[in-house]
This record gives sequence, structure tokens and C-alpha cells, in this order.
Amino acid sequence: MARGNRKNEPIAALDVGTTKVACFIAKLDDDEVLRVMGVGHNRSRGVRGGQVVDMAALQASIAEAVDNAEKMADMRIEGVIVNVSGPSLLSRNMEAEVAIPHNHPVRIPDVRRVLDQGRQLHGHASHGSQRGASSGSNHNHGSDTEIVHCLPTSYTIDGGDGIVDPRGMFGERLGVRLHMVSAALGPLRNLATVIERCHLDISDRVATPYASALACTVDDEKEMGVTVIDMGGGTTSVSNFVEGHPVYADSIAIGGQHVTNDIAKGLSTPVISAERLKTVWGSVLPSSKDANELLRVHLVGEDEEETGGHEVPRSELVRIIRPRLEETFELVRARLTEARMLHTTGRRVVLTGGASQLQGVREMAELILDKQVRLGRPRRIKGLPEAVSGPAFATCAGLLRYATQDHVVTGLTQRDGEAEEDTERPNGAFARVGVWLKELLG
Ligand SMILES: Nc1ncnc2c1ncn2[C@@H]1O[C@H](COP(=O)(O)OP(=O)(O)OP(=O)(O)O)[C@@H](O)[C@H]1O
Ligand SMILES: [Mg+2]
Repeated sequence: MARGNRKNEPIAALDVGTTKVACFIAKLDDDEVLRVMGVGHNRSRGVRGGQVVDMAALQASIAEAVDNAEKMADMRIEGVIVNVSGPSLLSRNMEAEVAIPHNHPVRIPDVRRVLDQGRQLHGHASHGSQRGASSGSNHNHGSDTEIVHCLPTSYTIDGGDGIVDPRGMFGERLGVRLHMVSAALGPLRNLATVIERCHLDISDRVATPYASALACTVDDEKEMGVTVIDMGGGTTSVSNFVEGHPVYADSIAIGGQHVTNDIAKGLSTPVISAERLKTVWGSVLPSSKDANELLRVHLVGEDEEETGGHEVPRSELVRIIRPRLEETFELVRARLTEARMLHTTGRRVVLTGGASQLQGVREMAELILDKQVRLGRPRRIKGLPEAVSGPAFATCAGLLRYATQDHVVTGLTQRDGEAEEDTERPNGAFARVGVWLKELLG
């Protein structure tokens, strides 16, 4: 996998969403600012609940988005950094330990061994045997999985906690705390095949909830602890950060499309009209005025011009929308509780994704999750056209951010088998403790 973007080299991000595909091409300029040069986005076809269901249709959607971004940036791209979504996303926090050779300080091969050990434990745990210490894991699934992220969050020597960089230290046993995210192999391969068919390489993969979090949170927030909820069209993705690093990723197969479908069914109106009603008039907050406010709705199969539709009070729309959003936040709360993450992550929540724009979601999330909630959109990116600067584009912007953090993570160079640390220290969510070892993790 190609990593480490140098300044002024183009970075391309591809967000394969359930409702839209987006491609951003950017450069990290001399002042370390991400500058967008090209954007392309269009309706996503062939994706359901964050997973590929029609490869040919998706290929066309991706090709169009990339083509538009390339035209705007006036350049061709060869590789993309892409997001991984869908119900098979599984995260785990694990601990592994190995012996340090007698009378030797910790060296890179020791670190490599302890990381390998962690990966193996993950493999066992994914198949249900739950060997090794593991915490904060979300639901399990039976199929074959592949590791998407394997992040060392801290090291221990002889049980001594909180070691940032064990290289050169003495002791008997080297331990590592790892945060791992995996996804089912089949969907990962399907996505990779479609991207390959678009003649693009995958330079890196990032779990959607992490990409979104990188785009719309600040380092202080991640340090204090934050839950980010990306409310998409077909999925609701959740990530938790504690002490600056990710500790939890999850995905629930409910999104804005479900709300739209509920409206279409509830009011017997075409999906396209339901979508418009939702975005223009939709809310989850009942108000005393709603009963008097009348919306014009036409029935499915009816000629709008001829009948002119019929009137429905806005309160009826709110009554249809509300339960689906309640269900979504209750599911998020249940998943966080199950993973013992509800109270350990602090009180801050950031909502992003297209569906977070529905009126009243922030208030509802505050009530159900009992936390402080704010709305988030992509930040700290220059040149992003207004049309793609909203919360629906948090994932795509976050993919760019992830790529630039890799640029900063140059921490390790190999020389005669020994490791040398660069003077530049990593910072930010994925560029913390031991991320200089990402290269080793493959
Ligand atoms: N103003 C709005 N009010 C309510 N919902 C909105 C609004 N604008 C967009 N949405 C909803 O946002 C959803 C799309 O969000 P987004 O673009 O983040 O999804 P996606 O990335 O394509 O899907 P996913 O992340 O689930 O794979 C749609 O269901 C759409 O109806
Ligand atoms: Mg999305």
C-alpha cells in the first residue's frame, strides 16, 4: 500500500456512499493546508446499506465522479483513498504481549512480533474463540474478515502502562494495546474489484466513521473524548475517540433513505416527493403549529397536474419521521452500551452526514444519548466548493485528512535493519502513539 503523501502531490479521496459517490482531489500546500483542486459527485447506484449490490452500476457512478473531479483539477489520478462502510465493520481493542530477548533493549523486530501477535489474536477472536484480552468489541459476525485498521494505542513493559515509544527500553515483556477494525472479506473484495475496473489503485482504506470524524472534529475534542455519528442515506456510522485515538467503530444499516421510504409509504406518495417533503418540511420535533400547517402531497400513480394533490398536516409528516430517528439513536445507544462505550467516551457527540440536516435531530440525539451534541461539517479544507462543503461530504473530506496525516507520520526509516526516528513528531488522531509503525503493519 502506498502511504505518505508529500507536499504538493495530489491526493484523491473517493467516498462510496449509499446515495452519492464523491471524489475530491487535493494537495497539501507548503503551509500544510489541504487545498481542494477538483471535486466530482453524483448519485450512487449499486450500493445498499453501504455495500456493493450492483458492480456495473457502481462502476459507472464512480467513473463519472472521478472523471468530473479530474476535469476540474485538470489532472489524471491513479490511486484513491477509499472508505469502508457497511454492517460488517467490527472494531476491537486487544492486548498482546511477547518476551523481550534477555539483556537487549526493545528493538523493531520485538515490536513487530508483538503486533503480529495482536493480529493473530484478532483472527481468533473474529472467529468467535475470543482468545486474548479483548474489550470494547462490537457485535460479532461469522464470515471471513480482513483487518482495515490495526493501530497501536499504547505499549507496556512488564505491565508498566502508557509507554509511548518502547524502542530502546529494557524489560522482560513487551505489551501493546491495539485498536483493530475489520470488515467482511466479500464486500471488501467487491469494492476493490469495482475500483480496479475503473482503472484506479486503492492507496488506502479508511473506515467511514473514522474518516468522517477526522473531517469534523478538532484534536481537543478527540483528546477529551467524543462520539461521532455519521448519518448517511443507508447507514449510520459511529466512532468513538478517547485520549486522541480511536477506540470504537460501528455501522448500523439505517439511514435517511429509510426515513424517506417511511414517508413514501405513510403518505402513499412517490419516493421522490417523499424526499422533497422530508428535506423541505421534515422535522422530528413536534410543534403546536404543525397541525395547522398544510402540505400538498400527491398520491403515487396520480397525475399531479390533474389532481393538484391533497393536503396533509405537517404534524402527520413529523409523526412518520420521528419513530425512525428514535429507533436510530436508540440503536446507537444500545450498541455503545453493549461495547461499554456509552459512559467511557465523555459527553460530547458530533452529528454529521446528510441525514443530520433533518430539523431537530440534534435535540433528539441529546435526549436519547444524554450527551452534549453539536452538528459537524468538514473543516480546515481550503477551496471546497459550497455545494460539497456540507455534512454529507464529511467522509470524503476526512479521507483527504487521513492521507495528510500519513504524510506527517514519517516517524520511521529503516537503516541496516535498525530504526531511526524522524525529528517530525506525529500529531492528530491517527498519528499518535506508535502510528510510526503503520508501515510495519502493511
Ligand atoms: N436537508 C436535509 N434534511 C434531511 N435529510 C437530508 C437533507 N439533505 C440530505 N438528507 C438526507 O441525507 C441522506 C444522504 O446522506 P449522505 O450523502 O451522507 O449519505 P451517503 O454517504 O450517500 O450514504 P451512506 O453514508 O449511508 O453510505 C439522504 O437520505 C438524504 O435524504
Ligand atoms: Mg456516507
